[in-house]
Amino acid sequence: MNHFDFKNGHLHCEDISVKEIAEKIGTPVYIYSSATINNNLELFNEAFKDYPHLFCYSMKDNSNLSILAIMAKKGWGIDIVSGGELFRALKAGTDPQKIVYAGVGKTTKELEEAIDAGIFLINVESEQELEAIDKIGKQKKKEVSIALRINPGIDPHTHSHIATGKKGTKFGLSFAQAKEIFLKQPNYKNIKIEGLHMHIGSQIISLKPYEEAVRKMVDFIDELKKANFSIQWLNIGGGIGITYKDEIPPTPNQLAKTILPLIEKTGCKLIIEPGRFIVGNAGILVTKVLYTKISEDKNFIIVDAGMNSLVRVALYGSYHEILPEEQKEGTIVADVVGPICENTDFFAKSRELPPFKQGDYLVIMSTGAFSFSMSSNYNSHTRPAEILIDNSKCYLIRRRESYLDLVQGESIPPRLVLL
Ligand code: LLP
Repeated sequence: MNHFDFKNGHLHCEDISVKEIAEKIGTPVYIYSSATINNNLELFNEAFKDYPHLFCYSMKDNSNLSILAIMAKKGWGIDIVSGGELFRALKAGTDPQKIVYAGVGKTTKELEEAIDAGIFLINVESEQELEAIDKIGKQKKKEVSIALRINPGIDPHTHSHIATGKKGTKFGLSFAQAKEIFLKQPNYKNIKIEGLHMHIGSQIISLKPYEEAVRKMVDFIDELKKANFSIQWLNIGGGIGITYKDEIPPTPNQLAKTILPLIEKTGCKLIIEPGRFIVGNAGILVTKVLYTKISEDKNFIIVDAGMNSLVRVALYGSYHEILPEEQKEGTIVADVVGPICENTDFFAKSRELPPFKQGDYLVIMSTGAFSFSMSSNYNSHTRPAEILIDNSKCYLIRRRESYLDLVQGESIPPRLVLL
C-alpha cells in the first residue's frame, strides 16, 4: 500500500498534486511520501513488538537526511556501509548506539571514525578486518563491540547481482572461519563478539531462504553455546521485497511468524535491516516528455530523466511501472528512453502505455529505494531535486543540482589554464 493515487484524474502524493510540484520545482524530481514510510515502519514495529529487537533502516536504499530523520524520530537505528553513511546518520540525529556497520572493505579511517562515534556493532567480514579493529581498539584503549557476518550459503532466488548470501560471493565469513575466530577470541583483547550477522540478498519474495538461513544460524549458535561462547544478538539483515509489477512479497508479520519461533530458542535479541520495504514504494520519479518520435516503426518517448537519475533498469533490467500524471484514454506500445548517450538508457521497452504526448508528465513508480541513492552525474547531467510530502506539506529536501555543483572540487593545473 502507498499514498500515490489518482484524484479527479490527476496523480497525487497524499493530498498534493504531482503536477503542481512538477510545475513549481521542475523535472526530473523525486517525490517521497512520509505517510507511506511511516506506514511501512509501523508494519515492522507491530510484527515484532513482542520480541526484543533493534530495527536498523538500511540507508543505502535512500540516504537523504530527511528520510533518515523519519527513522530517527521513530526510534529506528541505521545500517551503514561507509564513513560517508556514518556522517549522514549522525547528522540526521541517529543515536550512535543504534548504528550497525557492514561492508567488506572498511578502511582504517572509517573504522576509527565508527569507533570514535561509539556505534553499536561493527559487522566484521574477514579476520584481517578483525585484526585491524583490535589494533585500533588497543590504540584507543576501547573494547569494540562487533558481530561476525556469516555467509550462510543460501540462494535467495533474486537477481544474481543482489544475491549476497550465496557461496562464492565476497560477503562475510563461512561458519568454519567464524568458529575459528571464536576459538582465537582470547587473542583479540580489544574486541567483544556480541552477535552474528547475515544478509542473504535483496528483493526477496519468498520466506523459504530466510527460514533456511536462520535455521543454519540458529544451529551455529547452538554449536557455539556448547563450546561456551555466548551470543546476544542475531542480525538477519534486510532483503524483504516489494511489488514492482506482480510480485507478492512476504509481510513483516509473515516474516516474524516464520523466524521468531526459530530464534526464540537461542535467547538472542534480533536485529533487522530492512531498506527497500520501508522506502521502495514510498517514492516516485516525475519526468517530462521532451519529444516523441517514430524510428523504424517503433515509438519512442524521450523523457528528461536518464539512467543517471535512475540506473536500476539499465543495471539489473528492473521493472518499474510507468503512469501518466493525468489519466488518459487509449494505449500505444513504446520505448521510454532518456537523454544519455547509451543504448541502456531506457525505462521501458515495447511497453503498452498511455498515449504520452510532448510536454506530458510521465511518472516512474516505486523509485524510493536504490534510485536517487544510485544516481550519478554521467553525461554531466545534474541530479534531480527531491521532495518530501510530510503531514500534508511539501518540503524540498534536496535542491536540484546546478552546473556549478558539477565542477565543485575540480581544478585545472596552472600550466593548462587558458584564461
Ligand atoms: N543490510 C545489508 C548488509 C545490505 O547489504 C543491504 C542491501 C540491506 C541490509 C538492505 O536490503 P533491502 O532490505 O533494501 O533489500 N541496488 C540493488 C540492491 C542492492 C542491495 C544491497 N544491500 C537494487 O537496486 O536492487
